[in-house]
Amino acid sequence: MSNKPTILIIIGISGDLSKRKLLPAISQIAKTGMIPEKFKIVGVTRQPDIKLDTLLNYTKDKDYIINNTELFEMDLLSQDDYKNLSNRLNEIEKEFGSETQYLFYLSVPPKVSKSIIELIGKSGLSERINTKLLLEKPFGIDLISAKELVNHIDNYFKPEQVYRIDHYLAKETAQNIIIFREGNSLFKKTWNKDFIEKIEVIVSEEIDIEGRANFYEQTGALRDLIQSHLLQLLALTLMDLPKEDHINEVPNLRYEALRQLNLSSGESLLSYAKRGQYKGYREEVNNPLSMTETFASIDLVSSDEKWQGVKIKLTTGKALKDKTTYIKILYKKDHEHESNELLLRLQPDEGISFSVWAKRPGYEHQISRHALNFSFKDHYTSLPEAYEQVLFNAIIGDHSLFSTSKEVVETWRILDSLQKAWATSTYDLIIYPKGSTIEEIIS
Ligand code: BG6
Repeated sequence: MSNKPTILIIIGISGDLSKRKLLPAISQIAKTGMIPEKFKIVGVTRQPDIKLDTLLNYTKDKDYIINNTELFEMDLLSQDDYKNLSNRLNEIEKEFGSETQYLFYLSVPPKVSKSIIELIGKSGLSERINTKLLLEKPFGIDLISAKELVNHIDNYFKPEQVYRIDHYLAKETAQNIIIFREGNSLFKKTWNKDFIEKIEVIVSEEIDIEGRANFYEQTGALRDLIQSHLLQLLALTLMDLPKEDHINEVPNLRYEALRQLNLSSGESLLSYAKRGQYKGYREEVNNPLSMTETFASIDLVSSDEKWQGVKIKLTTGKALKDKTTYIKILYKKDHEHESNELLLRLQPDEGISFSVWAKRPGYEHQISRHALNFSFKDHYTSLPEAYEQVLFNAIIGDHSLFSTSKEVVETWRILDSLQKAWATSTYDLIIYPKGSTIEEIIS
């Protein structure tokens, strides 16, 4: 654990992310004794007279947060207010009595975050080597804007100061992908095109857009989940393994995997990419002509020698029948009764299962498929929340669970031609009833 004195500056402390994820995560890290002794949250808000206890509805152990948080009201777009904030941070550093790291967590809409980055930069705060910037997605809306954003941030911050959050990378079960691949020689040796026929990453959500009409109308499933979470899970599946104990190589290995990925090109791009929208979406967002997809499924290929010819599919959707996230690895077979399937289940019922064939007891020669199953819940009481891991790693300065700017640009590069095709076509949007299965939508 790092004991570096730390101030976590949450810009937008009264927002949903901070209430639901950040404050509960800090209280949990404190409970496990892994928080630096000298630690303070400065909650920046535009709203006057906000009371801290109104932000703690989702925090179980409130005492730590109450005793270690102060609210700072300011205009997020006023340069002078950043000077005042900087003065206050200085005072806290003096109270701590030793050099302190400032962690700026931008929990604000992307439109505002660009200006905030500039204002933090211009106030001189980013020049301290001990200042870090934590950014939530979306990082741009397409290839061009992502590159612009990267350049904008580079004007004020060095790459090692920036932590781009993809909370899927910090999920316990996503971290387990590397451990599983390197720790099991049977799978390690067969993790390539000679043995694997198909890889699928599925994030199926039961929830709909939950009232986030504005956000979702500008986003859609491709940008919201495929560009970030699903491509990162795929990168963890396809990348080369790091050399022993070289966890800091992981971002670059993920980048190398992404660099070799492309959309399947065939007769027509649209036949390799399906999009859908649940019934009732247009009324919900009050836009009768909306083409925003709440479901997306795309086929990819890798030019990496190890993966050439392997089918790759990413699928996600909202308002589907089940909530489930998994990576499915289908092994090659000579006969139907030989196929093995490996499932890395990320949520819920986190675990791993592997299907095998066995003889059915009896006089006749009949066989059945069964699963060898491992569920975390049978062995461990709880798994840490992704945001606990995100904050912990940022405090200790470990970049391995964050996306680099190179990775972000690659993910947009992969999707670029599809974004353009979808922007100009209208005929291929499938309207599906809420509660549909993936098969029902794309069959
Ligand atoms: C977020 C998306 O990044 O991830 C949401 O913006 C989505 O639309 C969420 O629901 C899913 O995260 P989790 O951890 O609940 O699977």
